[in-house]
Amino acid sequence: MDRRNAIKNLFAFIPLGAAFAGITALGLRFITPNKRDIQRRIFTLHLPELPINATRKFKDLRGKDLILVRTGEHEVKAMSTVCTHLGCTVYWEKDRQEFYCPCHAGRFDKDGNVIAGPPPSPLETYKVEIQDDNVFIYFKDQEG
Ligand code: FES
Repeated sequence: MDRRNAIKNLFAFIPLGAAFAGITALGLRFITPNKRDIQRRIFTLHLPELPINATRKFKDLRGKDLILVRTGEHEVKAMSTVCTHLGCTVYWEKDRQEFYCPCHAGRFDKDGNVIAGPPPSPLETYKVEIQDDNVFIYFKDQEG
């Protein structure tokens, strides 16, 4: 192989090498993501501020709407207000102790489970912790 052919062959492999490096970098990003999921514990309110059966709306760390419902003396539920059918907003019905979606009459129990209508899955729930009448919600977040 003369010098001219050697240089020609070298240039022929450069795009192949660049493509390989790009694919490898992309693959490594999925294998070793630089962000990791964590849970953040956020104070929301004092329990006496939320009478039994009352609701309070919040936004999670990503700006999604969620609703807090006091379902008992020491029981508070936190759910996404986004219906799992087509994304309409669900409302808390005090008398029935259920979440109702007016779009297609979807119904969810106080734990967010589907009890009627077309929603294919439960409402997204958030872990709630009550400590000394302080209500905390655990939000999923990413660190890194
Ligand atoms: S969007 Fe809620 S039931 Fe269809």
